[in-house]
Formats: sequence, structure tokens, C-alpha cells
Amino acid sequence: MADMSNSAGQAMKRMAIGIAALVVLTALLFLAAPDGFYSWAKAIHVIAVISWMAGMLYLPRLFVYHVDAEKGSVQSETFKVMERRLLRAIINPAMIVSWVFGLWLAWKGFGFQGGWLHAKIAAVLLLSGLHGYLAGAVRKFAEDKNEKPARHWRIVNEIPTLLMIVIVVLVVVKPF
Ligand code: HEM
Repeated sequence: MADMSNSAGQAMKRMAIGIAALVVLTALLFLAAPDGFYSWAKAIHVIAVISWMAGMLYLPRLFVYHVDAEKGSVQSETFKVMERRLLRAIINPAMIVSWVFGLWLAWKGFGFQGGWLHAKIAAVLLLSGLHGYLAGAVRKFAEDKNEKPARHWRIVNEIPTLLMIVIVVLVVVKPF
């Protein structure tokens, strides 16, 4: 238990350092190039989105393999560590940065107007809901309480792919 809270404390510390570094980088970029800042913000947004998606595609894949590992086995315990670290170190911070910069772009560039933007935000809300569901599943796997079969996680694995295709078409093509 002490080990768990210690690792949670370290994760919080790393997250705080990461956020502080991003705030400093953003401020420097803004001061160095106020006119080009929109493009820099978009670049940071896309980098965060790629990291978020990478994690969202990998996590259910880990669950597919985790289901087959015997409860209490070394393999199962290793999956728990991989899932927890992926969620805390990559997926959670990447989602926060995607939202912060995405909302800023939506306000600065479009005043929150546009059918494509509203549809995109709706699709990203669905993606964020899935994020919450996967975070809950990480907790269940950690307590050896997952009841869902590998087939379920294989199907869940396809949802972020579909949402990502919809989101990218909406923001790049802006069809309405
Ligand atoms: C978290 C909520 C999000 C909001 C509010 C948001 C909003 C925006 C806005 C306003 C832009 C600028 C569009 C332009 O300048 O033409 C943008 C760019 C972009 N977003 Fe998002 N976004 C979000 C999440 C996502 C996600 C989850 C993905 C991918 C799965 C994504 C992919 C992209 C891409 C690829 C671009 C660059 C488009 C281009 O330059 O043509 N965004 N986003």
C-alpha cells in the first residue's frame, strides 16, 4: 500500500513537472512569436492528440492479452504495471493538453462557430467518455475484477479508430 501511494506521489510529481515545462514552453513560444503562436499551438495540439490516440489504441490491446494471463501470475502483475503507467504517464496528460490547446484554437480561430467544430467537439466528448471507461477498466484489472472477455476488448479497440477518422475528416475537410 505504501508502495502504491509512493508511486502515485511520484506520478503526480512527474505530471506537475511536465505541466510546468509545457507552461514555460508555451509562454516562451508566445513571447518569441506572438503572430505565429496559433500555428505553434496547433502543432502542440496535434502532438498531444497523437500521443492520446496512441495510448487509446494500445490500452485495450493490452487488456486483450491481460484477459488470457492467469490471475496472480507474474505476467498478469506486469500487465497491471504497464496499464497503470500508460494511463498515468501518457494517456491522461495527453488528453488534458489536447483539450486545453484544442479549446484555445476553437476560441481564437473560430469563436467556437462552425458545424464541423460542434460535431468535432461532440466526437471528442465521446472519445473522452471512452477514456473514462478505459480508466475504470484499468482499476478493475488492477483488482483482478475484470469480467469482460477478450472479444469485448477487441471490439472496444476499434472505437477510438472510428472516432479518430471522423474527427480528422471533420477538422481537415470541414465539410459543413
Ligand atoms: C479536445 C478537444 C478538441 C478540440 C476543441 C479541437 C479543436 C481544434 C481546432 C479548433 C483546430 C484548428 C483547426 C484549424 O485551424 O483549421 C484543431 C486542429 C486539429 N485537430 Fe483538434 N480538437 C480537439 C481534439 C482533437 C482530437 C481528439 C483529434 C484527433 C483524434 C484532433 C485532430 C486535429 C488535427 C489533425 C488538427 C490539425 C488540422 C489542420 O491543421 O488542418 N483534435 N483542433
